[in-house]
Order: sequence, then structure tokens, then C-alpha cells
Amino acid sequence: MSELTVRPITDAELPLVMGCVMDVFGNDPAADPQVLERMRALVPVPRTFAAFDGSALVATASAYSLALTVCGGAVVPTGGLTIVTVRPTHRRRGLLRRLITAHLDDCRARGEALSGLYASEGGIYGRFGYGVAVESDELAVVAGDGLIESDAGPVGGVSPVGLSDDEALATLPAIYAAACAQRPGMYARSLDWWRWRRIADRPFARRGRSPRRHVVVRKAGADRGYVVYRQQLAFDDGRPAGAVDVEELVALDADAEAALWQHVTTLDLFPRVSVANAAVDCPLPWLASDYRRVVRRRRFDTLWLRIDDVAAALSARRYAADGAVTFVMEVGGSPHDVEPPSRWRLVVEDGVGTCVPAVGDAEVMLDRATLSSLYLGGVRAAALGQGGRITGKAEAIARLDRMFAWPVAPWCAEQF
Ligand SMILES: CC(C)(COP(=O)(O)OP(=O)(O)OC[C@H]1O[C@@H](n2cnc3c(N)ncnc32)[C@H](O)[C@@H]1OP(=O)(O)O)[C@@H](O)C(=O)NCCC(=O)NCCS
Repeated sequence: MSELTVRPITDAELPLVMGCVMDVFGNDPAADPQVLERMRALVPVPRTFAAFDGSALVATASAYSLALTVCGGAVVPTGGLTIVTVRPTHRRRGLLRRLITAHLDDCRARGEALSGLYASEGGIYGRFGYGVAVESDELAVVAGDGLIESDAGPVGGVSPVGLSDDEALATLPAIYAAACAQRPGMYARSLDWWRWRRIADRPFARRGRSPRRHVVVRKAGADRGYVVYRQQLAFDDGRPAGAVDVEELVALDADAEAALWQHVTTLDLFPRVSVANAAVDCPLPWLASDYRRVVRRRRFDTLWLRIDDVAAALSARRYAADGAVTFVMEVGGSPHDVEPPSRWRLVVEDGVGTCVPAVGDAEVMLDRATLSSLYLGGVRAAALGQGGRITGKAEAIARLDRMFAWPVAPWCAEQF
């Protein structure tokens, strides 16, 4: 078998990376004519690694430099692992493992305490220490007048305003940035990110639907939220059966959120609204006059995290309850997590955590992926304990549960 080399790519190799990514994900480059231009704008070449078989590029991985909001509003630098692909001719020869090793070394060199990703399959990344940290709900809404009732017309007295693409580019980023500070799991977007990923429309993504509509709500002259959606007109035996697909709804207060939901659920001719990625604490079911008109179709994993620097990560977030716990982070069954088990003590006073290496007896045992699942407060220690992923004294697991819980559910607005 030939020798495979893993190394950072050069600028000139980006088209080869694109070719590998398009092939492995089964995409049609002809349907996405701007793909290379988009990758040049977004994919950081110095963070892109590839595997070569001779001169042939056979595997890829890159990372965005993300600024991730954690519980309490602090921002933690995070390597956002992306475009992980291995050509089918070279699968199961250890290339993913080598690419992840290169990625994690790169994160460490950059002082990133965390790595995050979206997983194509659930069985791949746990062995590397990644755990599900954020979940989302897919919603299907039976829309129409009366779903969100208000005596005085628009709820909260705020009316939605439609924006052109240019206006959206000038308006939405500031609202999103303000929302980032309020919710764990969100990460900052650059203007290029907005341009290429959120505003520029890719014809193949429409699938017969409208271009994206951008609608903002303003209160006292200030922008308080926005919704982005597409529409598809349809009739069912002569009755309107159009569909609205909500791509992103971001609001800075409850009135703005209600007004935006009211807007997308009262579009004449469009009684079916689907929401592909709603926060698990989305208020829509509770805004609705009839709870059963908002159906949770499925709950699914979005952001997976891997805490690399335990002390830095756990000291960066805030905690809902004071307390102290000593835990052992086991290496688990992973042949890739080669460090010895480590022992830590987390002390929380007035919501501020200090995490330092510990000696002596530990109260609970967990592995890196499980600690990473706990990190943003979206996955409860009690449930992980029930699932056998945290062991130790019941009282200590209950304490861990209280300490790591957070009143705002984490949400990640977008897959990368
Ligand atoms: C998933 C993918 C990247 C794996 O690459 P690979 O080079 O074959 O993986 P490796 O040989 O390095 O395997 C590393 C470990 O992961 C395991 N693994 C690899 N693919 C897996 C899968 N799809 N499901 C479960 N385990 C998997 C291997 O068994 C191996 O485990 P072990 O070392 O504990 O025995 C590759 O199959 C691929 O490109 N798939 C299509 C694109 C994709 O899904 N990319 C991921 C985007 S998030």
C-alpha cells in the first residue's frame, strides 16, 4: 500500500480540496458555480490539512476560527472543524484520525480551548472526545390567523419590515451579534460569512422555492429581531396549501420574537410553516393559542464540542449554582485520547468557576466527550448519569447537574 502524507495545503491546492469535498459529499459543481470563490472567501488555507497519495489529494479537513458564546456570555476561541472528507478509495486507513490529530494540534497552537463540529454521522466523533453539546427541534406549524392572538394587531406593537438583500446585509449582522451575547452555542459571523453563507442565494438550494425573504422588526427605531424564510406556493383541491420554510429567526426580546412568529404564521396562502432549527426552549408552542398546532417533528444534535483545555474552558463559563466537585476525566475506550486520566476540581462561587488539577479522591467519573456535552448546559448531568456516562455518588451527580444547568438553552444557528 502506498505511503500517505498529511500536511497543510498551499493556496494553489484549494481547487483540489474543493474537488475532493464536492466528490465525497456527492455534490454537483455545475450546480454551484461559485463554490470555489466561496471557499476562497471562507476556508482558511493555513488551517486546512489534506492527505496526499503521491500527488493525488485524497482527504481534507479545515477549521473556522470561531468565537463561541458560552454560559454567561463569555466568548471562547473554538476551532470549528469542517469539510472533513476522505475519498472512498482511501477510507478506513486512518486518515480521519491523522487529520483530527493535525486539527487538534493546530487548535492548541492557537490557544483554542475547544473544538466544535457538525457530525455527518452519530458514530464517528465520540471516540475523539467530541460530545453532543447542542440540540435543536424541527417544528411543523399549522399556521393561520389566530395562532398567535393579539387584540391590538401586531403583537408587542411591532410591525415587520421586509428588506432587500443589501439592506439585510447592512442590518442583520448587528442583531445577530447582539443575540450571540445572550445565548450559549452561538458564534460570531464575519461579514464574508454573512455575504457568502447567509445572503448570497445558491440556486440549487432553492429547490423550487422563493429566494430568501428577510424581515426585520423594529421597536422605538431600534432593530430587535429578524426572520429569514423561503416560500413555496401550493394548492390542495383548490385550497391554499403553501409552505414557508423558516431558515433563521433571531430576536432580542420576547415582543420581537412573538412579532416575527406572528409574521411567518399569518402569510396568506401559506398555512404550513416548518422550522428546521428551533432552539429547544423556543417559545412558539407557548405563544400559540393551540399547543397542538406546533408539532415537534424531531429533536436532533447540532453542535458537537470537544473540550481540549479543561481548566480554561470550565473557568470561562458561568454557573447557575455554587458548589464544588472533584472529577476524574477518563480516557474512555478511545485509542486516540492518549493522555492519562486527569483529575480536576471545579469550585463555583457566586456563579464564577475555577477549575484546577486535583489530587485525592474523585466524586464523579466521566470521559472527555461527556464533559463536553455538559459544557453549554444543554445536556443535563442527571440524564448522562442515567445513561451510564457519569458514574459516582448520586448526590455528587445531582450537584454536578445543578451546577452545569443553565436557564437559556444553547442554540447553534447554523451548520458549518
Ligand atoms: C467519515 C470519514 C471521514 C472517515 O474517514 P476514514 O479515514 O475512513 O476514518 P479512519 O480510518 O481514520 O477511522 C478512524 C476511526 O473512526 C472509525 N470510523 C470511520 N468512519 C466511521 C463511520 N462512518 N462510523 C463509525 N466509525 C467510523 C474507524 O472505524 C476508526 O475507528 P478506530 O480507530 O477506533 O478503530 C470518511 O468515511 C468520509 O469521508 N465519509 C464521507 C464524508 C463524511 O461523512 N465526512 C464527515 C463530515 S462531518
